[in-house]
Amino acid sequence: MCGIVGYIGSREVSSVLVDGLKRLEYRGYDSCGIAIMDEGKPNVVRSVGRIDALEEKIKAAQPTNGSVKCGIGHTRWATHGRPSETNSHPHRDCTGRFYVAHNGIIENYLCLKHRLSAEGHRFQTETDTEVLPHLIESYYNGNLEEAVHRALQDVEGVYGIVVVSTEGDGRKIVAARNGPPIVVGMGSGEYFVASDVPALLPYTRNVVFLRDGEVAVVGSQGVEIRDSSGVCMCREPETITWTADMAEKEGYSHFMLKEIHEQPRAIRDTLLGRLAGEGAITLSSELGNPAILADMARLHIVAMGTSLHAAYIGKFLIETLARVPVEVDNASEFRYRDAIVGPKAVVAGISQSGETADTLAAMKEARDKGAYLLSVCNVVGSQAARQSDAVIYTHAGPEIGVASTKAFTTQLVALYLLALQLAQLRCTLPQPEIERHVRELRDVPDQINKLLDQSQAISSLAEKFWRYRNFLYLGRGIHHPIAMEGALKLKEISYIHAEAYAAGEMKHGPIALIDQEMPVVVLAPQDAVYRKTMGNIEEVKVRDGIVIAIATEGDHEIARLADYTVYIPDAHPFINPILSTIPLQLFAYHVAVLRRCDVDKPRNLAKSVTVE
Ligand code: AGP
Repeated sequence: MCGIVGYIGSREVSSVLVDGLKRLEYRGYDSCGIAIMDEGKPNVVRSVGRIDALEEKIKAAQPTNGSVKCGIGHTRWATHGRPSETNSHPHRDCTGRFYVAHNGIIENYLCLKHRLSAEGHRFQTETDTEVLPHLIESYYNGNLEEAVHRALQDVEGVYGIVVVSTEGDGRKIVAARNGPPIVVGMGSGEYFVASDVPALLPYTRNVVFLRDGEVAVVGSQGVEIRDSSGVCMCREPETITWTADMAEKEGYSHFMLKEIHEQPRAIRDTLLGRLAGEGAITLSSELGNPAILADMARLHIVAMGTSLHAAYIGKFLIETLARVPVEVDNASEFRYRDAIVGPKAVVAGISQSGETADTLAAMKEARDKGAYLLSVCNVVGSQAARQSDAVIYTHAGPEIGVASTKAFTTQLVALYLLALQLAQLRCTLPQPEIERHVRELRDVPDQINKLLDQSQAISSLAEKFWRYRNFLYLGRGIHHPIAMEGALKLKEISYIHAEAYAAGEMKHGPIALIDQEMPVVVLAPQDAVYRKTMGNIEEVKVRDGIVIAIATEGDHEIARLADYTVYIPDAHPFINPILSTIPLQLFAYHVAVLRRCDVDKPRNLAKSVTVE
């Protein structure tokens, strides 16, 4: 998820672009750049890191002359190619006539790159995006929007792009959308393009949101919108009433709630380019040397916090589907216990930020012991990624809220894909079984959308519980880590004490805590341990405990037993943990809001813990 902007008008173009990029920095902030067409001459400035660094470079660069200015800009959240000045956008073609800034993922960029290289094009970056300006160059015949249209016919994947060119008077921006958002802002005698409203709000509230397949041709005299076959369309501008802060959160009250609602998109992006046909997993190209993983004797996973909970789910999936023994360690413990990391051992670090000191240190420890290092990470170019032999990226996009939500569910999806890939490489699962898991995974985004519709109902449930001081979370099997995650979410944003237990542990102590002051959240989907979990619910009820059950749609028996029941769609037992997480995230969020906590920046916590 990157931020892109474009401007045509008489204002000082670089300050409009920089201002817009600053307002979109929450979308990505590892590198950035602008390209200004100054009377047909390109003026490109790019930089690693935050917009401030770019601004300094622009001040030092050659000021622009022309009266009517035209330019595009980009702030990056890397998916392909580590953050560097070379990999930062806008990207150009061989001749330096075409410049493109892109938000999204070009799935078939490798085969396009091979084809274009064979035609003599020279590539300078590691990015997927760079194929776009070269494609446009290969199709250009005097009409920029025509060349863009033809180039996009060859592209598979998702994109929001802006394109400028030195051709003609260089006063034209072509914008196109297929998936990630593009909005065009109508000013008086000036026009704006951006991937989101915050960049436009200081200048105009009259906007047109491009739809998938549409192209906007933005010139100094006006804007033309065309459909996917190039036919001009009439689109009435809408008037935006949001404040800039609301716009950054896309109308949600907090980044956490926005990120909870982004999970369908984040999971779709994490599956993108990794499933082929009915049931082929195509992750092995990201595993460095897949043979090492196919042949590994044992997998160790190290992580902290929410990522550690994902690791426990990973253990369940990989042991069951690929029959590889998996050890999971709290990273801060792993590095000081002189762990046995034998020959043919692989160690995986799971980290949203890729900068968590405990996890990095544990990975280094494993490296020193000769292990092959894999990481599951959300930040391209982070330390965890750089020190690994192979990286599986979760494409959740930037996660601003300290409480991890979309990064967690995309970690579960990435680990599920890894388990299936290993099962495919080690032939531990019949193909029809793999195909079934792939179908189930593809259904997850829509199932989560259905769950998000329950946000209001869960808010009403939170109304009944926000004053309590203690909670227990119970789960069995693959749901024990989900109970841990639910308890952590409540703790870290509402400051309520919450503990998670394997439900079978209750009789060995925690059951002593049960009374009217200790609500118990029980994960009880209809899986192999359902009956056992129902027994645990009865144990709580006979001691007058209060039970909130997360259950499978259509399960009326549990509704008779539990005080409150939240239903999840009926899905495969290995998909249930992803679905069960959503109501737990929403419950913690609504309780924290009712307790007037700073949901996005809870006390005593940091988004990335870079010290031990
Ligand atoms: C989770 O909501 C917390 N932010 C925290 O526990 C986090 O999961 C932990 O610090 C690990 O962070 P990482 O995934 O970036 O390594």
